[in-house]
Amino acid sequence: GLPIFTPHNLKIEHMKNIAVIGAGTMGNGIAHVFAQHEHNVTLIDVSEQALGKALQTIEKNLDRQVKKAILDAAGKQQTLDRIRTSTDLPSGVKGAELVVEAASENFAIKEKIFRQLDDVCPPETILATNTSSIAITRIAAVTKRPAQVIGMHFFNPVPVMQLVEVIRGFSTSDAVTQQIMALAHQLGKTPTEVNDYPGFVSNRVLMPMINEAIYTLFEGVAGVEEIDTVMKLGMAHPMGPLQLADFIGLDVCLSIMRVLQEGFGQPKYAPCPLLVNMVTAGRLGIKSGGGFYDWS
Ligand code: CAA
Repeated sequence: GLPIFTPHNLKIEHMKNIAVIGAGTMGNGIAHVFAQHEHNVTLIDVSEQALGKALQTIEKNLDRQVKKAILDAAGKQQTLDRIRTSTDLPSGVKGAELVVEAASENFAIKEKIFRQLDDVCPPETILATNTSSIAITRIAAVTKRPAQVIGMHFFNPVPVMQLVEVIRGFSTSDAVTQQIMALAHQLGKTPTEVNDYPGFVSNRVLMPMINEAIYTLFEGVAGVEEIDTVMKLGMAHPMGPLQLADFIGLDVCLSIMRVLQEGFGQPKYAPCPLLVNMVTAGRLGIKSGGGFYDWS
């Protein structure tokens, strides 16, 4: 079996080469953090344009870190030098000890990627997914290596947020779990191990809170700014729940509520009709220029 790694004996050489699939917000943040911590990263996306944009975003976020003296100019350059890009999955994942998939939150897309990864990666390669709501067990089941499939859930903005939610699928092995926990420590993050049930822990708790905030708005209990002020100043949340919903994307919030509703079959997970209406109308938050707030 695989060696057991802990934060004390995991060395960079054991996991030197990482492939990240998907160059969106999460993928570029994940590539950034691995490269910053001395891993060689291949960032893979079907779109050459998305890869170019991701590199620009990484550079911009590295500049913020230089400004904050988290990195110096040489550290920034070394980080950039450790990232290469590819539009071809089979050659891009060559030599990777770990693949982290951060493609669209869509099971059909992930299924296709994991089948292909299972075909082209040697049997020892660990396949992780950054999914925020799709069952790890379901993704693992499309491969012949379910013991080596795991959830590695990062939070936006990835370079800033301390948590990695490590989700054990039904068949994920102890050795793989420990290795991913140790690796997350090495990235300077705090990993937390959870089991694979709808929403895991993060979105099981976060999304009903956001949904309830939308209900308080819908029922006229208070306005957008009042609701966010209560939660920011009363509960010390960095963003109020409605601002956070705009940041995450209302379509993402709705789809995660549907996962909870379907997975548990309880009325308490029913998405607020206002959330449904806003998504139907295309008011998706920051990415569409408007949600609960105007972002145009
Ligand atoms: N890369 C690098 N650094 C960044 C960054 C990025 N992309 N974005 C922000 N920063 C840095 C800033 O430079 C700044 O550094 P200092 O603290 O050293 O000054 C720090 O982060 C704070 O940023 P700002 O001063 O610009 O703004 P802020 O104080 O308002 O913080 C925030 C911004 C960190 C996003 C904060 O508002 C926050 O924590 N919000 C909540 C975020 C959250 O809940 N994320 C989880 C969303 S859920 C999810 O991702 C997963 C899911 O499954 C749905």
